[in-house]
Amino acid sequence: MFDALKSLYSKVSDRSILSLFDDPNRAAEFSVNFDHMFFDYSKTNIDNAARAALLDLARDRGVAQKRDAMFQGAKINDTEGRAVLHTALRNLDGDAVHVNEQDVMPEVLQTLTLMGDFAEAVRSGDFVGQGERITDVVNIGIGGSDLGPAMATLALAPYHDGPKCHFVSNVDGAHISDVLRDLNPETTLVIVASKTFTTIETMTNARTARAWMSERVDTPAAQFAALSTAADKTSEFGIDPSRVFGFADWVGGRYSMWGPIGLSLMIAIGRDAFHAFLRGAQSMDRHFCDAEFHENLPVLLALVGIWHNQVCDYATRAVLPYDQRLSRLPAYFQQLEMESNGKGVAMDGTSLPYHSGPIVWGEPGTNGQHAFYQLIHQGTRVIPCEFMIAARGHETDLQHHHNLLAANCLAQSEALMTGRSLEVARDMMAAKGFSGDELERQARHRVFSGNRPSTTLVYPQLTPEVLGQIVALYEHRVFVEGVILGINSYDQWGVELGKELATALEPILAGDADASGKDGSTQQLVDFIQKN
Ligand code: F6P
Repeated sequence: MFDALKSLYSKVSDRSILSLFDDPNRAAEFSVNFDHMFFDYSKTNIDNAARAALLDLARDRGVAQKRDAMFQGAKINDTEGRAVLHTALRNLDGDAVHVNEQDVMPEVLQTLTLMGDFAEAVRSGDFVGQGERITDVVNIGIGGSDLGPAMATLALAPYHDGPKCHFVSNVDGAHISDVLRDLNPETTLVIVASKTFTTIETMTNARTARAWMSERVDTPAAQFAALSTAADKTSEFGIDPSRVFGFADWVGGRYSMWGPIGLSLMIAIGRDAFHAFLRGAQSMDRHFCDAEFHENLPVLLALVGIWHNQVCDYATRAVLPYDQRLSRLPAYFQQLEMESNGKGVAMDGTSLPYHSGPIVWGEPGTNGQHAFYQLIHQGTRVIPCEFMIAARGHETDLQHHHNLLAANCLAQSEALMTGRSLEVARDMMAAKGFSGDELERQARHRVFSGNRPSTTLVYPQLTPEVLGQIVALYEHRVFVEGVILGINSYDQWGVELGKELATALEPILAGDADASGKDGSTQQLVDFIQKN
């Protein structure tokens, strides 16, 4: 499927990206604007011919038809027989969306109202549990039931005016111990966030939190809320249905923070700001549905991704937000992209004849610059970088910080593209007084090959609305990449085997079963842990 693109690429693979700017229109023609958001992909090796071929590929693969099917509630997650409708959770106008011929919107909007009422009651002090006003909220969840709200709560710190929110995900007892240690059970609300309400990490942490609370609170369950599709299990746990916020199976875990899974965020920033977050996402949904492909942000971002991953064969993608409050965004994108598009078989069950989605990783700038950028600049592998930065920070009294931040962000993409030639490095070393073989040796260490691709997304300011747009942009990007790859982006069978084996190993480690059926390495590791 990628042969035509690969052949285009083979003709230009040695071309300098910088030379593309000989065309004075290069920057303007390889960037798009949407609602004060600006996406620049001019510092890639994509030229007019490659872009046209990529856009044709998106059309040929039926991206528009599949997008419409998704928004209309078709069961596109066909290994689980489910619709994929996280977009309905931010459909604030309530236009009908049908699943099995039933409009799901009345229930979605009713749940949003109930969540809002509860969040505001917690924030105002009307909800007190058994103690005093709630000062702290602990969200217990993992994967999509943690990363989204944890990332967004951190991202929107300037909007926090509610109780402090904490997040516990890891089954490592260190996580819950460290979080609960400084909290008062009488003024803490625990939210158990689990779509299935069976995830072992979450349920273990939830039981530990309940035991912790029961030492000081008569009816701990009264200070618990649940976010789940499994009403029977939440009531078995003892949580009153009035504090259970449900959602349907057509909301995938990693796409779920727009609904009840976002409750902790809503408590932190309030109902109105949460609605602004949803409105931002909804505006991106509309853009995705309405904009022509050549100016459609999710489509273009996906095509750049396909170009780098499947055509140029760059295996990884670095996400580099120059925004400290987006420090959890790379982890969030890791789940979004890798759990969605890390699949080795196509929809029809045949093996993919090309690579699955990319390895995604990253850290906020400028910290990463002092850690791993060395490899990005001079390592032997090319790593496409995706820079992100706000035009304006929130700290208006610290404008010089933001100027420096932005200068660093732009400097990195410039350096990656332009590099530094051996001639320039030689001149530098000669100016420092080196000569002969030593000059040559020293100069070679200071060469930057350049020609390393990057994109830059500039957003106006990290407001709730803009964060909603950014996340929805990446969700749709993953969708488009998945459609082009011909895979189901909405299941996650690859996480199952490890879960099953962990369940079997737990009694072995506890000493209640023997490890004789296990391979030699696993037996040896069990043995060492038990002895030590
Ligand atoms: O193990 C993977 C996964 O199913 C994710 O897809 C999901 O976000 C996470 O576990 C948590 O699942 P749950 O919300 O059901 O606890």
